[in-house]
Amino acid sequence: MGADLTTAMQRVCKQLDGAFTLVAVACDDPDRVVAARRNSPLVIGLGADETFLASDVAAFIEHTRDAVELGQDQVVTITRSGFEVTDFAGNPAEGKRFHVDWDIAAAEKAGYDYFMLKEIAEQPKAIADTLLGRYTAAGRLQLDEMRLSDEELRAIDKIIIIACGTAFHAGLVAKYAIEHWTRIPCEVELASEFRYRDPIVDRDTMVIAISQSGETMDTLMALRHARDQRAKVLAISNTNGSTIPRASDAVLYTHAGPEIAVASTKAFLTQIVACYLIALYLAQVRGTMFGDEIGAIVDELEQTPAAVAKVLATVEPVRVVARELRDAPAVLFLGRHVGYPVALEGALKLKELAYMHAEGFAAGELKHGPIALVEEGVPVFVVVPPQGRGQLHEKMVSNIQEVRARGARTIVLAEEGDEAVAPYADQLVTLPSVPTLLQPLVATVPLQVFACEMATAKGHDVDQPRNLAKSVTVE
Ligand code: G6P
Repeated sequence: MGADLTTAMQRVCKQLDGAFTLVAVACDDPDRVVAARRNSPLVIGLGADETFLASDVAAFIEHTRDAVELGQDQVVTITRSGFEVTDFAGNPAEGKRFHVDWDIAAAEKAGYDYFMLKEIAEQPKAIADTLLGRYTAAGRLQLDEMRLSDEELRAIDKIIIIACGTAFHAGLVAKYAIEHWTRIPCEVELASEFRYRDPIVDRDTMVIAISQSGETMDTLMALRHARDQRAKVLAISNTNGSTIPRASDAVLYTHAGPEIAVASTKAFLTQIVACYLIALYLAQVRGTMFGDEIGAIVDELEQTPAAVAKVLATVEPVRVVARELRDAPAVLFLGRHVGYPVALEGALKLKELAYMHAEGFAAGELKHGPIALVEEGVPVFVVVPPQGRGQLHEKMVSNIQEVRARGARTIVLAEEGDEAVAPYADQLVTLPSVPTLLQPLVATVPLQVFACEMATAKGHDVDQPRNLAKSVTVE
């Protein structure tokens, strides 16, 4: 009878198209669970007296770290005595066994009320771990998982970054650094849009697919489309052995540790760092920067964990503002240059967690429309570039004046010692001094904290916001 359920699953799967993960139980044989997958992940967790099925090991990590990844077009039958894998035709097959080497504590809350709070706090370490071992004593950048040859990297004439959600915002930030350091044109596209515009991609295009989970279906489909056209695909992922890295030509892993909260935080910062490492690597191989210039940027990157720790230590006033603004109908975020994607990310966090109307705008676009939204009391976050970037900074200061003159309540994120903005800030959030391109690594943090506190003040579940999933394995 039980075998029938397995056979039924095999037969059904053969008739299905597309992407699916199915789990079936028969009421007359409740001790048998049958599951199958195609183009969608499925992992089996092997506990002492228990077995788990999930799309991601994070779901059962507190119970077991021994897992089997089911291959494409495979069916698994789980009983009390073990499990058996077959293909859709019923032939015996094998999944891929692996052991998850995450520290168990890393997947638990470690005293924090929410995973998100813990993950925000872990950001200095996540950045440091992602940088670890990348720069040799001889002053060379080393990306161990880079399986593309120097020749192939020298031939690249275009970079396209594809990603979704927060990872897309990391790509938007990265574009500024990639173009500046490598002089290679770089586009950033939502993975879900990429295929449909008939993008111009060839063997000299490098496509960078950014995905924390490594399982996002939109990103996977976009990268397959790129590979079909012979592009070189490089994945940036936080999840070892996940589908997107496996489907790519090369991979650079972020070492953020498991990210459990649905809203992405530490993955975002490490994705930016990973993109920067790739950009510097390209600059090294192609000779668009001198070794000492690369070394200087690596030094600056290595100082960012301390800068992020400083932001975390001084972020309490942002929590106070969040509680005060609990009933605000909407919140706006403004930024320029790399501050623009930071504004988008700040708004996304607030939508995801606090279910509030939030919008991020390029500050220069204010006058072309969004300024009409500004009225008495509307909270406006402004990400101010470092003072060293004269024109950028000046323009931003006039943007703050513009919104404030129309009654906005301004919450201004600016580098320490920035006297010019103080008179126009209802709330000044001071950021450590870092170079402009690295500012997103510090400026995003108060916005994450703001969204998290706002969600808490409103009584929402911070880690599991409504309607959202951590890994979105459907298109
Ligand atoms: C989901 C999550 C987002 C995440 C996006 C991309 O929508 O809720 O937080 O940014 O997927 O995920 P990925 O794993 O590909 O980075």
